[in-house]
Amino acid sequence: MTTIELNSGFHIPQIGFGTSKSRTPVESVPTALQIGYRHVDTAQMYGNEAEVGEGVRASGVAREEVFVTTKLHNPNHDPADVHRSFEQSLQALGFDYVDLFLIHWPLPFLEIDYVDTWKTMIELRDSGRAKSIGVSNFMPDHLDRLIEATGVTPAVNQIEVHPYFANDQLREYSKSLGLAVEAWSPLGKGDELGDPLIVELAQKYAVTPAQLILRWHIQRGDVVIPKSDHRQRAEQNFDVLGFELDESDMAAIGGLDKGEEGRRSPHPNEFGK
Ligand code: A2P
Repeated sequence: MTTIELNSGFHIPQIGFGTSKSRTPVESVPTALQIGYRHVDTAQMYGNEAEVGEGVRASGVAREEVFVTTKLHNPNHDPADVHRSFEQSLQALGFDYVDLFLIHWPLPFLEIDYVDTWKTMIELRDSGRAKSIGVSNFMPDHLDRLIEATGVTPAVNQIEVHPYFANDQLREYSKSLGLAVEAWSPLGKGDELGDPLIVELAQKYAVTPAQLILRWHIQRGDVVIPKSDHRQRAEQNFDVLGFELDESDMAAIGGLDKGEEGRRSPHPNEFGK
């Protein structure tokens, strides 16, 4: 399994198993771990931390072999709520630590400044119960404020990235600061799998459209967290290291980018308003 070294010194497996909107995490998580995934991504917002934790235990894979991420829900930005909700997350998961804890959305319009939220995340990291800390959906100016105020650079920025929304400026800015980029909805929620170019290139490489897109992300150096409730698809999504896209095909997939129009979620400055 390919891993990426985070600025915290820990390693994150490049292919993770997403659980957003998963209908069956108690079954799909152990299935994913049996397939070989060693990275599971959940969030307070998904309401499934208990099932994800149960799924990890049911897999028989040792806790310390699995990289587990969860994320702070939007109503919990106040420092006291960060502590309280983090304890609840650990309890729901049934673990005494997580590998990565993220601020899920920046919510720049809140009265509670996300910089204060970040300072509390640093306390959790220092306690050892969140081995690495990071952010999700943070724009360049949000990142700059955190780093200027605390000197602590988030380990990752988990952001929307898929062929119709390549998000290259934010990816590159995040990487220039030393953050790893994690792509959420790497398959564009499944809707980009039928794109004619994707289908054509998938045939050329004798892979499925999902494998082609995931390989594109991997070659761009991003972490991916595809989700699927189906074993066969979860298997396919994990099996993307045995072929390589050539430069012109990488560029052709990059050419599908529609810029802002390609977003599947509101702009981070608007989300949660
Ligand atoms: P399902 O869970 O029913 O398999 P994203 O990760 O970009 O949000 O996309 C997830 C969506 O893509 C889900 O609807 C999932 O459906 C579907 N999906 C995941 N992997 C595959 C695959 N290999 N082939 C087809 N659809 C997939």
